[in-house]
Amino acid sequence: VKEAVLGPLVGAVDQGTSSTRFLVFNSKTAELLSHHQVEIKQEFPREGWVEQDPKEILQSVYECIEKTCEKLRELNIDISYIKAIGVSNQRETTVVWDKLTGEPLYNALVWLDLRTQPTVDCLRRRIPGNNNFVKSKTGLPISTYFSAVKLRWLLDHVRNVRKAVQEGRALFGTIDSWLIWSLTGGAKGGVHCTDVTNASRTMLFNIHSLEWDKELCDFFGVPMAILPNVRSCSEIYGLMKAGALEGVPISGCLGDQSAALVGQMCFRDGQAKNTYGTGCFLLCNTGHKCVFSDHGLLTTVAYKLGRDKPVYYALEGSVAIAGAVIRWLRDNLGIISTSEEIERLAKEVGTSYGCYFVPAFSGLYAPYWEPSARGIICGLTQFTNKCHIAFAALEAVCFQTREILEAMNRDCGIPLSHLQVDGGMTSNKILMQLQADILYIPVVKPSMPETTALGAAMAAGAAEGVGVWSLEPEDLSAVTMERFEPQINADESEIRYSTWKKAVMKSIGWATT
Ligand code: G3P
Repeated sequence: VKEAVLGPLVGAVDQGTSSTRFLVFNSKTAELLSHHQVEIKQEFPREGWVEQDPKEILQSVYECIEKTCEKLRELNIDISYIKAIGVSNQRETTVVWDKLTGEPLYNALVWLDLRTQPTVDCLRRRIPGNNNFVKSKTGLPISTYFSAVKLRWLLDHVRNVRKAVQEGRALFGTIDSWLIWSLTGGAKGGVHCTDVTNASRTMLFNIHSLEWDKELCDFFGVPMAILPNVRSCSEIYGLMKAGALEGVPISGCLGDQSAALVGQMCFRDGQAKNTYGTGCFLLCNTGHKCVFSDHGLLTTVAYKLGRDKPVYYALEGSVAIAGAVIRWLRDNLGIISTSEEIERLAKEVGTSYGCYFVPAFSGLYAPYWEPSARGIICGLTQFTNKCHIAFAALEAVCFQTREILEAMNRDCGIPLSHLQVDGGMTSNKILMQLQADILYIPVVKPSMPETTALGAAMAAGAAEGVGVWSLEPEDLSAVTMERFEPQINADESEIRYSTWKKAVMKSIGWATT
């Protein structure tokens, strides 16, 4: 296949909490040509702790790139047509490594990790009620979710981290920084950078000035010297230093939820998308304005597509556990052997039969921000079987989405008329139908659900010096949509939702910190 026929290609790394993917798109049509995916291990060394191995994550990226390139060769597509690579990643997950050896100094502390709750409690007590400068500068509540407290924990508890900081050898980064530094040469000249969207999730970044903030760094006790340079989401950061794509520029970088917003072409004020991954994240573009929520949502940087381009902000409803509940049913309870099997179980019963499952494994995020919550399954009878529990798990994802959608509607004033969705779980038709029933508005999904990777590829392809992708909406006119309309009546939907709310209340207060 000739490049002139195909058009230049752009690759995207999508490094999520559960898996890593590399995908290659045709920049002319946005068509996905090939991809490869590898599941990532999660370690739970103690109750509430969640870690990952940064080297395994890096290795999985190389593996996905190599395998995707092999698949392209089998399709007779020359990999030299790949002109740029974008990176999108699980956000907040924190890595500290040694810049001389390239070795991580501890496992990555994953965004879901709860070990920093005592630190959070202590920091909260130091914030005057009428002057929450952390919230006003970062758009975030002080929570275990964000990187600053994870970095604080590493500084307090890992001697090697402290020593490397004192000796000027330590670098901090979220997964994007770790990957870009490693892929562009690591200890032999790797580029230590991040982008504005990932930076906005650290609690150290001022989302108004778009810079690391001295007052915040002092408050969290974080040395500014170990922080990466903050860049836009679309510019050349460096070149791949090894592997099949050696020499190709890395020129796009966005946290995965921002990448999905771009991939769904939500470029206008009021446009929103909901991504179902390990967690579930509803982002609504608020344009150049930082909108602060009165209903438990976060204010975050949506994207900045070029050094001289303006910044866009978003309101975000974050749900910690979505796809993760399916993995838990597979790995911890063993009631399914593959994630796909849940659809078959749920379909067998078509109802949870009064069983409700609140998967508050990491407390509850938006709109509650309730760290004391823990998972509960209630409404059980002798009649309940694993199919009902599977159904209740899917329903939980939909109820949680309704809660953040309602918060979004209240903050924005204009209710969303439909919900644009994407992410791995959207291939589950039962889930999509349930979502439409529970929200009582249509749910719309693109036929190509890999919008996170698409967003990263768009940013990479559009970068100055690459210029193979134009960010005009017509580019995606070929994308077809699948639509799910509500099929139950509004009263039934309300009854189910109010019972869910009762179950949520029961989940709160289980953990004492
Ligand atoms: O904030 C965490 C989020 O970025 C994780 O995304 O795709 O792993 O659910 P995902």
